[in-house]
Amino acid sequence: MPRLSSDLLNWYKKHGRTLPWRDHPDPYAVWVSEIMLQQTRVDTVIPYFEKWMKLFPDIPALAKADEQTVLNAWEGLGYYSRARNLHKAAKIVAEKFGGELPRNLDDLRSLPGIGRYTVGAIASMAFKMDEPTLDGNLRRVFSRLFDVIEFADSPAGEKILWGLAAENLPKGKAGDYNQALMDLGATICLPKNPRCLLCPLMEICEARKNGTQELRPVLKPKKQAPHYVHAAAVIIERGRVLLHQRPADGLLGGMWEFPNARVEADPAAGLVKAINAAYSFKVKRKDALGVVQHAYTHFKVTVYAFRCEAASVPKNKNLKWVKLGELDDFPMGKVDRQIAKMLK
Ligand code: ADE
Repeated sequence: MPRLSSDLLNWYKKHGRTLPWRDHPDPYAVWVSEIMLQQTRVDTVIPYFEKWMKLFPDIPALAKADEQTVLNAWEGLGYYSRARNLHKAAKIVAEKFGGELPRNLDDLRSLPGIGRYTVGAIASMAFKMDEPTLDGNLRRVFSRLFDVIEFADSPAGEKILWGLAAENLPKGKAGDYNQALMDLGATICLPKNPRCLLCPLMEICEARKNGTQELRPVLKPKKQAPHYVHAAAVIIERGRVLLHQRPADGLLGGMWEFPNARVEADPAAGLVKAINAAYSFKVKRKDALGVVQHAYTHFKVTVYAFRCEAASVPKNKNLKWVKLGELDDFPMGKVDRQIAKMLK
């Protein structure tokens, strides 16, 4: 076994984290946790994972659930296409694979939301197969251990890093190896101020030898995210508020929001025209309700919410009058949930 993996596995035995999906007998649990853990920290995921497994204890249960219930259970985790894909994939597994996650890697890879990382994670952890995997943490760990100077987020860098993950994999122990690397990345080999003195691999780390650990991984320069300003109309009539359901695909697909639209400069001045252009009905602006900011992956947004009255009849088929007491049943992103809270 390479020294890297034996030292790593010894460390993992002592310092590995106890997590609810670890050594779980059900591959479905591993799958759910791996999807939740993409772009999301372990501490945030744990309560969602536990609630999810109670609501949808197996693949057939998830396949049968309706999408609004699924999105509700995911609300707050972000990146909602993960939930929609998990749901779609559960339906396919129920129909095509008898309700059990397939062991064949190509079959696994064919499922919505399951890419190379998730295949490697499920195969190694749930099916005990000798498969490597690579996520952001592992990219950083291998970039440092081997002082990789190629862009880690380029095809050439990816190839090198997947190769390193595979080369050092200890046969029969891939699940522990992959999770040990994840724990090392999350607790020791941190993006900033890595805790090298506590690292079990300090002696073999090339970046540590060269003093370049803070400079790895090398990533392509990022463009600055654009910042948009939106105006939202909160229209309440006889105890009901008007919501809009977003299109099924794309950002926050299938989730609910207060009618809103992008404005150029002054949100109070631009509201009426922007809402009319987006939804084909007129509003009359009343008082300002509040301001909410949010950073998505590729842009930032500031939303100015105003109480409004409908000055013409809203007819758009994706608009719905919802009882104020039932707002919690409608899955929303962070911005709209904050506006909804202002109404309480
Ligand atoms: N991040 C992604 N998958 C993980 C896992 N199985 N354990 C800990 N952190 C993770």
